[in-house]
Amino acid sequence: MAKKTKVTGDVLNTGISNANSKKVADALNQVLADEFVLYTKTLKFHWNIEGRDFHALHLFLDEQYNQLQVIIDAVAERIRKVGHFATGSMKEFLANSSLKEHPATGAVSEGTIAELASDHDALIRKMRSLIDDFDEKYDDAGSADFITGIMKEHEKMAWMLRASVSNGR
Ligand SMILES: [Fe+2]
Repeated sequence: MAKKTKVTGDVLNTGISNANSKKVADALNQVLADEFVLYTKTLKFHWNIEGRDFHALHLFLDEQYNQLQVIIDAVAERIRKVGHFATGSMKEFLANSSLKEHPATGAVSEGTIAELASDHDALIRKMRSLIDDFDEKYDDAGSADFITGIMKEHEKMAWMLRASVSNGR
């Protein structure tokens, strides 16, 4: 009598090999770490911004960190959808992130906010290369589409950051 395959519910059968979905999950866990560092930095700038445009920038950064929180949740849940586990400790986030924290404690000026825009740019560049990796190397069109959507959100956030601190040209 043929042995019945044990159905455990923990292995996906969606046409992507486990090795490939693991590579996708590892890359998404790095994105998750970057998002968390950027989220923390945005929150810090929201708290410590000072200057003539305090009120507008304080509220603007409030919107931005809330958007990042939604992105963080979506990235972690995407990792679960491809069959793996999301990291969730500060230690792992710091070890996996390619972005640098903002170390100093003190007032944050309008000029410092530009640092956030360049962090968004770095994430956009990373995501642009992940789109092809996910689709072509790992056969995961769903994750390629997902990361394209996240990249577009960062493009919008980076534009808004630049426009908020621009002196006009
Ligand atoms: Fe607040």
